[in-house]
Amino acid sequence: MIIRVINGPNLNMLGIREPNIYGHETYADLVAKIEAHAAKIGVEVEIMQSNCEGGLVDAIQGAWQHCDGIVINPAAYTHTSVAILDAVKAVGVPTVEVHISDVSKREAFRSVSYIRAACIATIAGHGTDGYLEAMDLLKKECGQ
Ligand code: DQA
Repeated sequence: MIIRVINGPNLNMLGIREPNIYGHETYADLVAKIEAHAAKIGVEVEIMQSNCEGGLVDAIQGAWQHCDGIVINPAAYTHTSVAILDAVKAVGVPTVEVHISDVSKREAFRSVSYIRAACIATIAGHGTDGYLEAMDLLKKECGQ
């Protein structure tokens, strides 16, 4: 089973950006945590980050006929991007939306998620553990 983990803008700044909201773990820490969990549950992971909407669309499209699941934190594009929603719909790969913070308890605009409509689940407010929960869920979803 191959899971692609896709991270949107500013997530490369984890550990530096607003640690009161996103915590002190760096992006490298997040990658190591995801890789360790993948090894533990016996799945292959492909992890990427882009600050560009098109880069995220390309990463979603690249999962077509290649990956069994997608974990995506589209970051700020969650709240604006029809292109990312359409890409997830286009590939038909089971996708879980993840947010480190509890977007429902922040500014009103963060409660809007375009991508949610195309996802099998949304996990928000569980810190970086949310990524691991999303991987577990996809593994279960694929009957593995
Ligand atoms: C985020 C929440 C978004 O509103 C924000 O723009 C991010 C990160 C999260 O992981 O909590 O960049 O997706």
